[in-house]
Amino acid sequence: MANVIVIGAQWGDEGKGKVTDLLSRSADVVVRYQGGVNAGHTVVVQGQTFKLHLIPSGILYPNTACIIGSGTVIDPQVLIEEIDRLEALNVDTSNLFISQTAHVTMPYHRLIDQAAEDKRGDQKIGTTKRGIGPTYADKADRTGIRMLDLIDPDGLKERCEWTVNYKNPVLEKLYNLPPLDPQAVIEQYSAYADRLRPFVVDSSLKIAEAVRERHNILFEGAQGTLLDLDHGTYPYVTSSNPIAGGACVGAGVGPTIIDRVIGVAKAYTTRVGEGPFPTELNGEVGKILGDIGAEFGTTTGRARRCGWFDAVIGRYAVRINGLDCLAITKLDVLDSLEEIKVCVAYEIDGETCHHFPSNAALFSKCQPIYKTLPGWQQSTAECRHLDDLPKQALDYLKFLAELMEVPIAIVSLGASRDQTIIVEDPIHGPKRALLNANGDPV
Ligand code: GDP
Ligand code: IMO
Ligand code: MG
Repeated sequence: MANVIVIGAQWGDEGKGKVTDLLSRSADVVVRYQGGVNAGHTVVVQGQTFKLHLIPSGILYPNTACIIGSGTVIDPQVLIEEIDRLEALNVDTSNLFISQTAHVTMPYHRLIDQAAEDKRGDQKIGTTKRGIGPTYADKADRTGIRMLDLIDPDGLKERCEWTVNYKNPVLEKLYNLPPLDPQAVIEQYSAYADRLRPFVVDSSLKIAEAVRERHNILFEGAQGTLLDLDHGTYPYVTSSNPIAGGACVGAGVGPTIIDRVIGVAKAYTTRVGEGPFPTELNGEVGKILGDIGAEFGTTTGRARRCGWFDAVIGRYAVRINGLDCLAITKLDVLDSLEEIKVCVAYEIDGETCHHFPSNAALFSKCQPIYKTLPGWQQSTAECRHLDDLPKQALDYLKFLAELMEVPIAIVSLGASRDQTIIVEDPIHGPKRALLNANGDPV
């Protein structure tokens, strides 16, 4: 048995969906623990593409239980559409479960997210406008509606009427928007409740039962380390905790049950939305990465900003998440390049800095210090073993592993499940020793 957390080690869209789907082969349970429909996880199996927003990427395995955990926020309309889309493709959703304590995104959350972004002007965050921030804000403010309120007809009526009346002055006075009709919202959300009620469970209890039965549990992060509310590039972050620590809070498990943490990182870097990005490439190479990597957001369709691999944030992700190993994705996107750069440190006001500065003002001043490596200029898409890779590609991977001081367990060379090199079984393979017999770090 092994319980494993899969997290994004950059700014999201690292390929967590692909890696989670791949590892779900050995999982009995897959849990999404934070985020909402801002996430877009793509899984490609035998030429068919599945775009998942809330449903865990283990859903394509009929015997794997998929749980949308307490720490997520649920837009019921989008979730129902997602379930319908999967069912239309003959994907069995009878093994899907939704936490009764997950918070519900309401119509005013979306409206406020959109209006607030417009009002922020040049201070805008570039959110997905899916109501994520306002839903989490109400959770913290203790004015949220949870799944257990949604599926209780009396509870929904009472909570909904109160919250809509509470929010209407905000819509009207702050954002100049028309008020919502509480009765119309109750009717709309009652219909969603009827559809989702059969899926709602005490998810923490369900996960505890899986732990007791020594099942393999995979915790699937959304977003990425640098979008973490506490440890990311605040304020250009999301409103939840995608980092590994967030898995325990969001799923409702203790840290002692976690065996491994796997970080997913692209062989380069992308970011959607606003905020500093030291290795961003605004010229021709950035365009090549965007075009070959098809770097458009799964959720919003926005073009993703592209840049070189940043090992400073990579090392930060190793530290903040306690990564045991890395899955490096999209190596194939670099195939045509003559040379490839890796940011090994930053320069800030003439000083060299090896650590990610949490101070946003300092981070926006960081100039990347690059090491240039030769490209391989041949296709890697059909490689299935490390030995199949061109020497320069292997050297590039070794360089990344050395810089970040973690082994690379998976290399991905295309969107399909089979376009993968499993270097070492990241779930059952030998775990990196942190201390030697004398208790010294190794
Ligand atoms: P996630 O949010 O971390 O799950 O990542 P997304 O699904 O938003 O974005 C990753 C994109 O890259 C998706 O379109 C995947 O199908 C695709 N992808 C994943 N791994 C690879 C890879 O190794 N090579 C290529 N070319 N595409 C990949
Ligand atoms: P996955 O799970 C990439 C970004 C948005 C914006 C910031 C805040 O597919 O990796 P929000 O709507 O969450 O309030 O937006 O976070 N963002 C993502 N970027 N991948 C994601 O999810 C993201 N989810 C949110 O672009 O910059
Ligand atoms: Mg994505």
